[in-house]
Amino acid sequence: MQAKIIDGKLVAAQLRSEIKNETAELAGRGIVPGLAVILVGDDPASRSYVAGKEKACRENGLYSRDYRLDENCSQSELLELIQKLNADTEIHGILVQLPLPEHIDSDRIIQAISPEKDVDGFHPVSLGNMMLGQEAFLPCTPHGIIQLLKSIDVSPQGKHCVIVGRSNIVGKPLANLLMQKSDLGNATVTVCHSRTPDIARHTREADIVIAAAGRPGMIGPDMIKEGAVVIDVGVNRVEDSSRKRGYRLVGDVDFEAVSSKASFITPVPGGVGPMTITMLLWNTLQSAKRSIP
Ligand code: GUN
Repeated sequence: MQAKIIDGKLVAAQLRSEIKNETAELAGRGIVPGLAVILVGDDPASRSYVAGKEKACRENGLYSRDYRLDENCSQSELLELIQKLNADTEIHGILVQLPLPEHIDSDRIIQAISPEKDVDGFHPVSLGNMMLGQEAFLPCTPHGIIQLLKSIDVSPQGKHCVIVGRSNIVGKPLANLLMQKSDLGNATVTVCHSRTPDIARHTREADIVIAAAGRPGMIGPDMIKEGAVVIDVGVNRVEDSSRKRGYRLVGDVDFEAVSSKASFITPVPGGVGPMTITMLLWNTLQSAKRSIP
């Protein structure tokens, strides 16, 4: 079998055009959805993600305000900025790029963001509501993956989904969404991680495999059932002197080899990545709409 490629850029473009129409409509009523993006330090990968978020805001009619804080800034400085933004009526979403430097307590920072502006969906209130099946900002990468499955008409209902990776950002919330009692859930979910013996034993049973472990090429064709859907969340930089930048991006899946066995597969780049930013725009738009008295 030769897998069809799930074109995340295309699915993202369709959703972004809906978002753009809605922001134009809101602008006519004097409301511009505003996102504040805070980057602490100078990590090149984080800088590039943040630049992508800001560009996507500009292109789709959202207002973005960026804050660059020094690597050595204090936790209280960051908390003060968040408090200011919580009270700022031009700002509907606050995003603090992770990871943060070690001297800063990330949990404390995430909890300082008002749940009404938690467009990343990382606040315990958002995660709690999501888990209970209540209205909540959904974490952007898991929400984007659900939208990708919808775009290829693959319902998780009754399927066995195996997630590799248990991060707070992807694995844990995605497991939750996939098992929810809803049209886009109702799956049977297995979560594997670094302490799971024989991960392949589980992935080989899966109708849908989601790789989110951050280990380049760890999912090979021997780990996949013929005809499975494979979603690759990994974004790993591997050295490549033939490239101008000196590296190339690869996923957690051995794309070429797995493509000859899967029914659908996401590429890296151009699969899950564009969806994450799109769902962030989506959440910011929803937040702006909720702010209308
Ligand atoms: N670091 C990697 N992915 C993300 C994300 O989706 N949001 C934030 N805030 N930081 C990240």
